[in-house]
Amino acid sequence: FKVPQPINEPVKSYEPGSPERAELKKALETGRSQKIDIPQYIGGETIFSGNKLKVAPPHDHQHILGYFHEGDASHVTMAIEAALQAREKWAALDWEQRAAIFLKAADLIAGPYRARLNAATMLGQSKNAYQAEIDSACEIIDFLRFNVKYMTDLYSQQPDSSPGVWNRLEYRPLEGFIFALTPFNFTAIAGNLPAAPALMGNVVVWKPAYTQVYSANVLMEVFKEAGVPDGVINMILVDGPVAGDIIFKHRDFAGIHFTGSTKVFNTIWKTIGENIANYRSFPRIVGETGGKDFVIAHSSADPKILATALVRGAFEYQGQKCSAASRAYIPSNLWDEVKELMVSDLAEIKMGGVEDFSNFVNAVIDEKSFDKIAGYLDQAKNNNTEVEIIAGGNYDKSKGYFIEPTVLVAKSPTYVTLCEEIFGPVLSIYIYDPNDFEETLALVDSTSPYALTGSIFAQDRYAIELATARLVNAAGNFYINDKPTGAVVGQQPFGGARASGTNDKAGSILNLIRWVSPRTIKETL
Ligand code: NAD
Ligand code: ALA
Repeated sequence: FKVPQPINEPVKSYEPGSPERAELKKALETGRSQKIDIPQYIGGETIFSGNKLKVAPPHDHQHILGYFHEGDASHVTMAIEAALQAREKWAALDWEQRAAIFLKAADLIAGPYRARLNAATMLGQSKNAYQAEIDSACEIIDFLRFNVKYMTDLYSQQPDSSPGVWNRLEYRPLEGFIFALTPFNFTAIAGNLPAAPALMGNVVVWKPAYTQVYSANVLMEVFKEAGVPDGVINMILVDGPVAGDIIFKHRDFAGIHFTGSTKVFNTIWKTIGENIANYRSFPRIVGETGGKDFVIAHSSADPKILATALVRGAFEYQGQKCSAASRAYIPSNLWDEVKELMVSDLAEIKMGGVEDFSNFVNAVIDEKSFDKIAGYLDQAKNNNTEVEIIAGGNYDKSKGYFIEPTVLVAKSPTYVTLCEEIFGPVLSIYIYDPNDFEETLALVDSTSPYALTGSIFAQDRYAIELATARLVNAAGNFYINDKPTGAVVGQQPFGGARASGTNDKAGSILNLIRWVSPRTIKETL
């Protein structure tokens, strides 16, 4: 089982004058000046339904980038049939051939598709150049390459044998098809969720979020050019509940690879439960869901490192990372300095469209998100006895869905913005007495249902040890003296428990193991 040893794809800087910057600018201009038609991809066919829905940049919502052709229930059925038809040949293909296809997909993104996929992520999802690069270049490339390595690690796990007996494990794909249901906020996650089960020999029906279709279309072109056979990954552009209604009732539904909100995953789990008697096998249910990610600082923390981590952790990609720092617990002895540093950092931050590379903050994804986040800000403004706005607080959706990076200080640790997932550029802070560190650890653990990411900032080793122990179940990814965002494939396998998901660690052997059904073979020699 020898495959190329993966190394993490280096992040390009896009500094002024660099060739990659010129290439990306050109791809952005091309994207903005064209009006493309995005089809569904079913069984190797591109399907233009004629029911066209607009695609626009969230930071410039009157500018039309193109249209996608929405499908209906008939396309869901077609996609399932195409997947099942492709299954036998794909499942029987040698693992080296599957590996070669996905390694080629990684190389295509690293090379000829890099600028186009980054530009699509920037325009369609309003990510700045750096945020696009670490997502739609580095992370998806890493997922594709590391998964090939982890596949061979998994296949190498074999049982013992004894004289006269040879035992082995055959890692079969699941019997049926996988449904990949993906969110808007990471192109890498959208690509990995269909690609990982397909690499393991499964066939997939993939439904991206409507707000990510623009970059999903480029991913499908990459998969096709890399040689993914017709029907192995089918992309449908169908309303989620319409797709779910057919897929979750189908006898050959073998598993779901989901990333998105906790609310939607709860609904899906219930629906699968209601249909459980209909399936050929118990389906695999893998879901990475919401977060209310914390930062807790001890009185020994370095204020400068803390302030920088809070600004980056909370406001990169407008706080729309599942891992974003959205609540922070800061001891009163550090607060004045941390506040001053954050306020001055935030005053320097520029907000605007992705085409101007100096903008750190861009727009939130759509009007629904904008209105939800603005609602929390209005509530804070009307509630000034309970909460104080330290920075930001303003919003404007006339051109794009812009919300200022906002810092709130709440008097109560159970104030709504300290407990609920907002999924926007809002950081809520609770200031505590440095003598109450242990009590504050208990608050962190108990005031939100989620357990995705979290950080402790301290120089005191005893404080680090205590936080690590007391918060053992509060985060699936725990960071010491670092922001809670930016997990790197192969280095920090990602995922959380409690209301944050099934914690099957995307981009690791723990995830791939969910997409096989091992057969034990005993041969008497
Ligand atoms: P979402 O739950 O709204 O949508 C996810 C997908 O489900 C989309 O494709 C959507 O169209 C589909 N969908 C929505 N309702 C459905 C239904 N009733 N039946 C079937 N499909 C349905 O999530 P989103 O807004 O795209 O993404 C943001 C959420 O994702 C946040 O909660 C965030 O925390 C979470 N997220 C988690 C991780 C993680 O690794 N834990 C990573 C990224 C995002
Ligand atoms: N992998 C992404 C992060 O850690 C979600 O920020």
